[in-house]
Amino acid sequence: MPDSPDTNAAVWKSDEQISAWISTAADRERRYAYPRRLLAELLPFGQADEFTFVDLGAGTGAASSAVLERYPAARAILADFSPQMMEQGASALAPHAGRYQYVEFDLASGDWPGAIPATVDAVISSLCVHHLRDERKRELFGEIVGRLAPGGWYLNFDPVTAPDPVAEAEWQRVNDRRDPVAASKRANRTAEEQLRYENHTRYMIPLAPQVSWLRAAGFEGVDVYWKELDYVIYGGRRPAA
Ligand SMILES: C[S@@+](CC[C@H](N)C(=O)[O-])C[C@H]1O[C@@H](n2cnc3c(N)ncnc32)[C@H](O)[C@@H]1O
Repeated sequence: MPDSPDTNAAVWKSDEQISAWISTAADRERRYAYPRRLLAELLPFGQADEFTFVDLGAGTGAASSAVLERYPAARAILADFSPQMMEQGASALAPHAGRYQYVEFDLASGDWPGAIPATVDAVISSLCVHHLRDERKRELFGEIVGRLAPGGWYLNFDPVTAPDPVAEAEWQRVNDRRDPVAASKRANRTAEEQLRYENHTRYMIPLAPQVSWLRAAGFEGVDVYWKELDYVIYGGRRPAA
């Protein structure tokens, strides 16, 4: 973990940092197209089912969009604490107008806003849980299982750290081969890029404890449903009875 102070709220509420995030969105979404689609597929609803899901740390709604596109009768509640991301999301989500609402929610606290119903059909999160301290990750999983309808699924798409240095080197070798300028970018980060990198990795941890916290919270069907190097989709469902 970097020694520097926790900058998460400052980063996600900074106009400059949000502009940087938005400017790289198209390239990122090309790379994430498959896991985005898979996460939507993993929700076991029929094409025409009406259901409500919550997207925690929803940002501009990239994960929600994949679900809303896959299930035309679904409704989304997008929770985030960044006014800038929510404002950007309003235009990104324009094709789904009337089927979604944003609610302000700081996931670092356990104070779920009243606008999120006591029971929802599914919960998703993407690229956000790694920004929470371990204790909050663990607590959040318990809060999610408590919000889900019986049989309701939670799925999380997120980066993880490697279980050991050998795996870490292997992941880096492959990622560097795919992006020939990655090593030089790593060695020559601007101060702003370094701040973003430290914020990205500060609370990122290996996969294994996260999966075990889901089981401990009471989820069943817990699995790593997809994994490619440092990116994973894991999840489980609230027992049906
Ligand atoms: C990397 S972006 C991912 C956005 C979106 N889920 C996606 O997949 O594109 C991380 C998002 O998590 C949100 N976030 C980070 N920490 C948060 C917190 N403590 N409470 C609520 N949202 C948070 C940020 O505002 C940002 O929108």
